[in-house]
Amino acid sequence: MLLPWVFVFIGPVFVSALKYCTALDACWPSTQVWTALNTSVDGKLIAARPPAAPCHTMDPLFNEETCASVNASWPSMFFRADQPGASQDTYWENGNSSCYIDFQLDTPCEQGLVPTMVLDAHSLSDVQKGVNFAREHKLRLRIKASGHDFVGRSSGEGSFLIWTRHVQNLALAPDFVAVSAPIGTKPVRAITTGPGDGWASVYDLANRSDVVVVGGTGQTVSSAGGYVMGGGHSLLSRHYGLAVDNVLQFTLVDAFGKKVIANAHQNTDLFWSLRGGGGGTFGVVTEVVHKTHPAFHNILGVTLTVSASNSTELAGVLKAYLDLQPSLDDAQWWLTTAVAQTSFILQAALFTPPAGANLTQIAHDAFQSVLLAAGNLATAPVFVVQQFPNFLAVHDAFFPSNTPSGSAAVLASRLIPRHIFENTTATTLLAQAATEPFEVVFNLLAGGAVSKVSPNATSVNPGWRKALHHVIFASGWTSSTPLPIRDELRQLLTEQTSLFEPFSEGLGAYLNEADRNDPDWPQSFWGDNYKRLLEMKHKFDPLGVFECPKCVGSEVFGF
Ligand SMILES: Cc1cc2nc3c(=O)[nH]c(=O)nc-3n(C[C@H](O)[C@H](O)[C@H](O)COP(=O)(O)OP(=O)(O)OC[C@H]3O[C@@H](n4cnc5c(N)ncnc54)[C@H](O)[C@@H]3O)c2cc1C
Ligand SMILES: *[C@@H]1O[C@H](CO)[C@@H](O)[C@H](O)[C@H]1NC(C)=O
Ligand SMILES: *[C@@H]1O[C@H](CO)[C@@H](O)[C@H](O)[C@H]1NC(C)=O
Ligand SMILES: *[C@@H]1O[C@H](CO)[C@@H](O)[C@H](O)[C@H]1NC(C)=O
Ligand SMILES: *[C@@H]1O[C@H](CO)[C@@H](O)[C@H](O)[C@H]1NC(C)=O
Ligand SMILES: *[C@@H]1O[C@H](CO)[C@@H](O)[C@H](O)[C@H]1NC(C)=O
Ligand SMILES: *[C@@H]1O[C@H](CO)[C@@H](O)[C@H](O)[C@H]1NC(C)=O
Ligand SMILES: *[C@@H]1O[C@H](CO)[C@@H](O)[C@H](O)[C@H]1NC(C)=O
Ligand SMILES: *[C@@H]1O[C@H](CO)[C@@H](O)[C@H](O)[C@H]1NC(C)=O
Repeated sequence: MLLPWVFVFIGPVFVSALKYCTALDACWPSTQVWTALNTSVDGKLIAARPPAAPCHTMDPLFNEETCASVNASWPSMFFRADQPGASQDTYWENGNSSCYIDFQLDTPCEQGLVPTMVLDAHSLSDVQKGVNFAREHKLRLRIKASGHDFVGRSSGEGSFLIWTRHVQNLALAPDFVAVSAPIGTKPVRAITTGPGDGWASVYDLANRSDVVVVGGTGQTVSSAGGYVMGGGHSLLSRHYGLAVDNVLQFTLVDAFGKKVIANAHQNTDLFWSLRGGGGGTFGVVTEVVHKTHPAFHNILGVTLTVSASNSTELAGVLKAYLDLQPSLDDAQWWLTTAVAQTSFILQAALFTPPAGANLTQIAHDAFQSVLLAAGNLATAPVFVVQQFPNFLAVHDAFFPSNTPSGSAAVLASRLIPRHIFENTTATTLLAQAATEPFEVVFNLLAGGAVSKVSPNATSVNPGWRKALHHVIFASGWTSSTPLPIRDELRQLLTEQTSLFEPFSEGLGAYLNEADRNDPDWPQSFWGDNYKRLLEMKHKFDPLGVFECPKCVGSEVFGF
């Protein structure tokens, strides 16, 4: 057979002239070949279409009843996680083509970035068949758990998708001992999950078992996919570290279709790579074992809403808030603060308030200087203090399951260390930069336990170990926004993000298109861990079976 992949060995890295086979190419498998695969997986192969297809009058799937039902479910993150062809962010369905739910319904529904063929895997053996098929046919392969990825790594034009939504492995492991651990190793309390188990179900089990687990805020974000492999952070990170710091073991299917178990005792290089090197890069994970921790039972929650008449005025209050970060850090607060030009909403939690203390008093004392600064505004600030009996209660109050999904956005993020907040010149500049046009979310979620782990113990950006805040920048558009205006919005977001550059320790969890001007994005995203990650990519996936945009090795393998 002719090898369409030609590798030329130059120095320490491979340079490839490879082309992945897509549905637009003649090399795409024939119907008979797909049918044979379908038979081997008991009919779990789906010819996926964009979710809005039933609403497009010219589409073969057009159906008023189905359309009404899709339309009603459109913003539900659970609905989207359950569609083979959907992403949480519609930009990663459409790309620059269109199949909208609310615009141009009489034009053809274009396939866009929605994968052409989807294997709805239910087990490790289904995944093995999918990986072997993709490798043998040199397909453009994508892997998806929940479709939350912000860089489009879980969709792709003309791709073959291994969908892991139905690979579920949720169970308590109260006496977990890693495979190959030395005899006599003390068991640890843990929870096993599969990529199909979103945080909502994991938190529910943890709550029922009176333990906590380090996980994300998105209810449908996968507990064993891109979140955990990409350095996911949590409300509990300041107490227990990043998600990668809590993983005890991965089970996965590697690029050769083999089942592999990686932990601190066997396949340690792979274990290191999977803890920060990103999803979709080293294999298809079918199970993750997460360490659990004792639950919290007296949690202080605070919500503060501040509205100013203009951005200059808001910047004044915001500066008072930013100057407060070192003391909030010392007291172990977790915070998220969404700034939208003339207003901000702050949500905060203190998981371990002093026993018997007056919580209202503690909250007022902690935020006194911000309340004072906001006291001069025409609109009085709204300060709400709550007490929560467990993690799930605070999580559901702050991140409700009906948070809308299903629109188009671009994001970026930066890691900011503590010393910046101790510098009053810097906080003035940050407060001004944050009140520019786009939404900026300050998240005090690192520091604490995150900073106690060695920068190269896992493969996440070493910047995480120095950071205090993870700052997120977001912009978006509607279906009718013309493409050139979208480019302008991307450009403006990049400019606003660049105002934070002098204060930053590198890119955070949300690497995105907005950083497309960064010529050295692997270095910005993984720092000094990138060199070893690239070596590991060559070691574990020399053929580039798992290629994805802005993933380790994508500058080498390309697509
Ligand atoms: C509403 C919302 C809330 C969020 N909250 C947080 C948060 O609190 N903390 C945080 O750190 N991040 C958060 N994120 C970001 C989230 O961590 C990333 O979007 C992450 O990539 C999602 O992973 P996923 O597997 O669920 O998504 P997917 O889009 O399904 O996959 C993401 C990446 O992982 C790969 N992948 C998926 N499944 C597998 C598998 N089984 N094996 C191997 N690779 C796989 C995909 O190929 C892709 O590269 C949030 C995102 C959203 C949209
Ligand atoms: C796979 O087989 C099932 C069951 O026979 C069928 O319903 C499905 O349409 C097939 N998938 C494809 C892509 O042909
Ligand atoms: C979807 O629902 C909205 C709100 O009810 C309605 O305005 C719109 O026309 C519906 N769209 C379709 C395609 O049915
Ligand atoms: C859409 O087009 C813009 C340029 O206008 C480009 O930067 C971007 O990468 C394109 N998006 C996709 C998903 O191809
Ligand atoms: C969490 O667990 C507590 C104690 O068992 C229970 O009372 C509560 O209802 C649970 N919360 C949810 C949202 O299920
Ligand atoms: C902002 O609003 C305040 C209060 O209304 C006003 O005094 C100030 O002049 C305004 N600043 C700008 C730049 O508009
Ligand atoms: C707690 O502190 C608040 C604010 O200072 C005060 O109003 C309240 O009376 C205190 N409650 C108790 C029970 O002491
Ligand atoms: C404080 O920040 C300003 C602005 O970035 C910078 O010029 C200055 O050197 C910083 N001072 C210290 C002590 O770091
Ligand atoms: C991490 O860095 C230390 C100090 O630079 C070095 O000794 C160690 O070998 C590194 N560990 C790994 C796993 O690379």
